[in-house]
Amino acid sequence: MGKLALAAKITHVPSMYLSELPGPNNGCRKAAIDGHKEIGRRCRELGVDTIVVFDTHWLVNSAYHINCGEWFEGIYTSNELPHFIKDLRFAYPGNPQLGRRIAEFAVERGVRAQAHNIPSLELEYGTLVPMRYMNEDQHFKVISIAAWCNAHELEDSKRFGEAVKDAIDAYDGTVAVLASGSLSHTFIPDRIALGNMNNYTREFDRQVDMHVVELWQQGRFKEFCAMLPDYASCCNGEGKMHDTAMLLGLLGWDSYDQPVEIITDLFPSSGTGQINAVFPV
Ligand SMILES: [Fe+2]
Repeated sequence: MGKLALAAKITHVPSMYLSELPGPNNGCRKAAIDGHKEIGRRCRELGVDTIVVFDTHWLVNSAYHINCGEWFEGIYTSNELPHFIKDLRFAYPGNPQLGRRIAEFAVERGVRAQAHNIPSLELEYGTLVPMRYMNEDQHFKVISIAAWCNAHELEDSKRFGEAVKDAIDAYDGTVAVLASGSLSHTFIPDRIALGNMNNYTREFDRQVDMHVVELWQQGRFKEFCAMLPDYASCCNGEGKMHDTAMLLGLLGWDSYDQPVEIITDLFPSSGTGQINAVFPV
């Protein structure tokens, strides 16, 4: 009988990488990096062997996809923000066995899921950024799941999340699951991008994000699940917030009622709303 040991919604902003480098942005994302390190520390303490990441930077246009290669290694430059993430070296073990089981359980639940063990199928930075801070020593196996689901229903992502839980229950080991994506995600318009790396684009987004964090802290997921489709669309949620639907599917959807623990306070990054928050299991 496997165990889900930790679940979290996390940031992966590329300015975390900039924050490491000398220059004007040095240290700007220390709180986010510290949050990732703390989540990594807890995973070790809980005996986690595999981290599953719902990655809102992996865009898919059809079906649900699981990248469960045996080994991931390379030098990554973001094609979306090459001035933020450049030449990031990575190497992590994978877990093809658990990835395949997730796909099987998802198909059983009527979700068109596929598991892939293809050496040339690369990881996106929604997975690479958190792994950089949580898994530097390759302690954890990694599975990356596409969560920018462009032509999909949140309802199906919820069911996919349920299938992830099925697979973890049937797995002989201990697993953590991370929903890697923002809260609101109205990217700063390019003409005013300089000087606004630490601001929201819209006050509306900031207000709704603050309210959402309050709902989470109070365990009010009946209300949050009811507003999720409108929140994702009105506040331009990253990846249409399929990562969040998967996470809540895993945790019991609107019957989940645990007060969330904020590891890194809500912060703005290039117009968007970001957080590290542990959802008690
Ligand atoms: Fe992102």
